[in-house]
Amino acid sequence: MTTTERPGTDAEHLRTRIAAELERTRARTASLTDAVDDHDLVRQHSTLMSPLVWDLAHVGNQEELWLVRDVGGRDPVRRDIDDLYDAFKQPRRDRPSLPLLPPAEARAYVRTVRNKVYDLLDGIRFTDRPLVEDGFAFGMIVQHEQQHDETMLATHQLRDGVPVLDAPPPPEPRAAVAGEVLVPAGPFTMGTSTDPWALDNERPAHTVDLPAYLIDAAPVTNGDYRAFIADGGYEQSRWWSETGWRHRVDAGLSAPLHWRRDGDGWAYRRFGRWSAVRDDEPVVHVCWYEAQAYAAWAGKRLPTEAEWEKAARWDPATGRSRRYPWGDEDPTAAHANLGQRHLWPAPVGAYPAGASPLGVHQLIGDVWEWTAGTFHGHPGFTAFPYREYSEVFFGAEHRVLRGGSFGTDRSACRGTFRNWDYPIRRQIFSGFRCARDAGE
Ligand SMILES: [Fe+2]
Repeated sequence: MTTTERPGTDAEHLRTRIAAELERTRARTASLTDAVDDHDLVRQHSTLMSPLVWDLAHVGNQEELWLVRDVGGRDPVRRDIDDLYDAFKQPRRDRPSLPLLPPAEARAYVRTVRNKVYDLLDGIRFTDRPLVEDGFAFGMIVQHEQQHDETMLATHQLRDGVPVLDAPPPPEPRAAVAGEVLVPAGPFTMGTSTDPWALDNERPAHTVDLPAYLIDAAPVTNGDYRAFIADGGYEQSRWWSETGWRHRVDAGLSAPLHWRRDGDGWAYRRFGRWSAVRDDEPVVHVCWYEAQAYAAWAGKRLPTEAEWEKAARWDPATGRSRRYPWGDEDPTAAHANLGQRHLWPAPVGAYPAGASPLGVHQLIGDVWEWTAGTFHGHPGFTAFPYREYSEVFFGAEHRVLRGGSFGTDRSACRGTFRNWDYPIRRQIFSGFRCARDAGE
């Protein structure tokens, strides 16, 4: 994009789009926080998670810092609470004991901030500096709030008590999908330099040359995973890495999180309701170590990030990389299970319209997919707009997840989008698929 002023209609169009995204996102935040009473909002449902009321005011505080103060140059609304809602200064386990804004005050605060943002959006020029070019800062804040909405959804999944969330079940399978897909050897473009709201760790576009490999046509299902459990996968250290096995023993892992034995079979708890495990859904709530052990047991391995992204984006007909497996257009309900339209992953074969040109299914939505590698910047990485967005997380501690889950909003999910977490985490909506070298 250029640094000259866009024609008025383009700027108007962008303003309208930003306002719609802000509004749509806030409606989701409100639905997640209005679903429970004040007692539930202020308590900590798991030491891994913040009280929901912390997420709410933190979302508003980040919006104030970036849009009201930085982009808008306006006076602070509540400078006195910056430290309370700084994720780096306040570890999650300590957040419930902080003097947080009570629910009514938190709601009033985010409303005040949002009104100021609407006001500054009215007169904004999208050209002055990189932070506002193409509305980037607004896109970053929309994605930030959506990411916290997914985190709050994970808190709901951990919460005890009567069920409060409802949604229709995902679609049934419309295509038979099984086996592996061969991805031929050769270069492809990884990352992006042009997607206007792509975050720093997705940039820049660069060429990666890969040998041929096979990748699963669909994520690993509950049925697949049950076979691993039934075959003693959790009892045999040979399938696990050394650290993975130590964690399995220390944490007492014996099945995905939220599963329990149910007669001869298994049941899982989803947002407060127990039901029999369905075999054809992607497995969810497994940690990286479990994914790695399953892959070893299956005679495979986890895909590298580059392998995942080539399978998702590379179009053999043109040689170019698409924004999404199905093309460049934004996701619709026919493409992928995103945005909390449903409260769990869709069975394999439910989204034939979302398959990649090579025939790899359900890469976007359903479950975040663990990949083999640790989190690093792409070659040529530049931190923007601040090191704390992703650069401080680079290193061997975090594994990368790709593709988004049923709880990920479309604004925070692209073929290039990268998520990261510790390899022991499984309260997130995490699953995986396997890969292996071709010719093995
Ligand atoms: Fe945050």
